[in-house]
Amino acid sequence: MTMLREQLLDDLSQATTAEQVEQVRIKFLGRKGLITNLAKDTDFSKLSPEEKRDFGAKLNDLKRLATDALQEAADRAKNAAESHAGAGGARIGQETRLIDLTVPGSSSTLGTLHPVTMIQMELEQIFEGMGFCVLDSPEAETEFNNFESLNIPGDHPARDMQDTFWLQNDMVLRTHTSANQVRALKRFGAPFRGIFPGRCFRYEAIDPSHENTFYQCEGLMVDRNISVANLIGVMKTLLSEIFKKEVKVRLRPGFFPFVEPGFELDLNCLFCGGAGCPTCGDGWIELIPCGLVHPRVLEFGGIDPNAFSGFAFGLGLTRLAMMRYGIRDIRHFNSGDVRFYEQFAPIV
Ligand code: DAH
Repeated sequence: MTMLREQLLDDLSQATTAEQVEQVRIKFLGRKGLITNLAKDTDFSKLSPEEKRDFGAKLNDLKRLATDALQEAADRAKNAAESHAGAGGARIGQETRLIDLTVPGSSSTLGTLHPVTMIQMELEQIFEGMGFCVLDSPEAETEFNNFESLNIPGDHPARDMQDTFWLQNDMVLRTHTSANQVRALKRFGAPFRGIFPGRCFRYEAIDPSHENTFYQCEGLMVDRNISVANLIGVMKTLLSEIFKKEVKVRLRPGFFPFVEPGFELDLNCLFCGGAGCPTCGDGWIELIPCGLVHPRVLEFGGIDPNAFSGFAFGLGLTRLAMMRYGIRDIRHFNSGDVRFYEQFAPIV
């Protein structure tokens, strides 16, 4: 039986096609096959019951091994036949695995910068040109930096306007980039000129122009004899650079506890030209709240308000991107919808 087994395995190692494997099967397991005949040719009457049992067990083992080995060889032959079938195939190394060079390739797409990132990069360049530094700042803030240092104590009604997300450790997801004002003043002192772009969070009812997560770019300039004239000068330079044309703006009085006086700088709507549309409402887009830094804020930053003054502004970066790229619904920005992002030029 051992010899038969070796002979079978030897024959199978030579058999590469289905037909050859079938021949081997007939030779060993066919009606007159070598294994089949083993039982027929044996005179069981000459064997003791023990020998019979032993013979039967060995024969069964041999048959099982033969069946498995034949099946394996048949599968191998089939796979080889299939991979050979690929027209125009090329052989890789020693194996019979083939690649079909006629199959169309899968293309890769170039990513794009997020529109807010693009506008932020543009702003950074403009402000750097005017001598401002660009500072990164944390999204999770202390209550002091986000509110108190900006002259918004715990019982101040201005807190209600910025109802927001609190963390369990009493930190707050910053509601505005103004939260970095006092940190920057403490660190760099005066004179200071810097912008702090970044993500802000508010508990908002979401609609085409309100989101719970959005971007702002805070600006702060502190020096001797800074006045509203400096503020207007910087704002005008900024907007004409961004929109590459003369834009209409209006300045209204606005209240923010951390500036005095405070203003709302509105941009004439670029979609409707001021006639009024779903994006702007009445023809004006509230774009840049700003003002002269409140003396208390300077004091919190360790700056003497009698020696220095400054201006600050909080640019709605997301809103600016909407204006700049003609995006009418703020909800696109955080949608993760590739069809939206694809519309912006790929980075090359
Ligand atoms: N932080 C204010 C907000 O998010 C915006 C703001 C108003 C920033 C006036 C300023 C400012 O720097 O001077 O509503």
